[in-house]
Amino acid sequence: MKPREIKPGIYWVGAVDWDRRLFDALIPLPDGTSYNSYFIQGSEKTALLDTVDPTMYGVLNDHLNELGIQHLDYIISHHAEQDHSGSLLRVLERFPEAKVVCSPRCKGLLIDLLMVPEEKFITVNDKETLSLGDKTLEFIYTPWVHWPETISSYLKEDKILFSCDFFGSHLATTDLYVGDEWQALEAAKRYYAEIMMPYRTTIEKNLHKIEYYPIDMIAASHGPVYNKPEIIAKAYHSWVFDEPKNIVVIPYTSMHHSTRRMVEYLVDNLTRRGVTVQQFDLSVTDPGKLAVALVEAATVVIGTPTVLAGPHPNVVTAVFLTNALRPKLRFASIIGSYGWGGRTVEILSAMMPNLKVEMLEPVLSKGVPKEADFQALDKLAAAIAQKHKESNLK
Ligand code: FEO
Repeated sequence: MKPREIKPGIYWVGAVDWDRRLFDALIPLPDGTSYNSYFIQGSEKTALLDTVDPTMYGVLNDHLNELGIQHLDYIISHHAEQDHSGSLLRVLERFPEAKVVCSPRCKGLLIDLLMVPEEKFITVNDKETLSLGDKTLEFIYTPWVHWPETISSYLKEDKILFSCDFFGSHLATTDLYVGDEWQALEAAKRYYAEIMMPYRTTIEKNLHKIEYYPIDMIAASHGPVYNKPEIIAKAYHSWVFDEPKNIVVIPYTSMHHSTRRMVEYLVDNLTRRGVTVQQFDLSVTDPGKLAVALVEAATVVIGTPTVLAGPHPNVVTAVFLTNALRPKLRFASIIGSYGWGGRTVEILSAMMPNLKVEMLEPVLSKGVPKEADFQALDKLAAAIAQKHKESNLK
């Protein structure tokens, strides 16, 4: 793909990674990703906004060649994570005159992670500006999206917000701008769920901070550019600020079908009571899909058999992630089975300190579920439906 002009003098020079399937050895990327780098030609100075993943430096280099760039004044480093900074040393090698512009915290991380020489840096404060001649960048501190050092840049004359990971999406596409809105928002929601949701309270502040800027475009560091920024702004607003919905998420594992029977019974019962349910068999589930479901759910019910006197390891992983992601859940419960004992409920309950949830009566069946267990599941379904109704969840 060639460099692409998004406004006069402003070019996308990033790389689309169609084949990457895992990030941080953890996060599935079903739709690949992109590392968006932007080049700005001002009347007096030039700036490159972020680099690309080190595996794709050649693509960035080719783009800069195509544009005939001979001189670079600034490399704006919004974020020190290597998918954006990993080619920094190579770019500095090519343009030794360039200065790296970043927050003081980012400078520290770039020295720690990449050993960028101290003399290469210019650090900037929140709201500080940098003139490129006829174009002016204003730096806006937007921390914890998802690292502490991250800043965004606002190009005043063109009203473009370069937001780095904030508003990003792991989506490989030939679309420079969002084409398929449903696809873009689904990818953005997954990205929010996996990466931003744990920092929701700081994201709230960041959203408030940028609402004073007139914005024509949001150019994040992953995924297509939003030339209708209200689409992603509205979606973020809903994910961050809205009440949870009338949704129950059930991540579960079953070894000999007892827990599965309980899950299916509960799903059926909740559905008849007008509650939307999403169930995830953890032996086959993409954890990103589970994270997306947690963005708007009001209740989580964890289903597990008992193994080695506690919850199944698949469930331990899912509960660890759920606790770490800090979704806006209100209620939780545990269902499952055991053979002769165990501490499943205590262990799982202790694993959720970040979730500000009311714990509803767990249902554990000794062996296969029997009439009394199904009655207990009826009670649990009724309690969930009632709690959702009392909370006026839609
Ligand atoms: Fe896209 Fe946090 O790096």
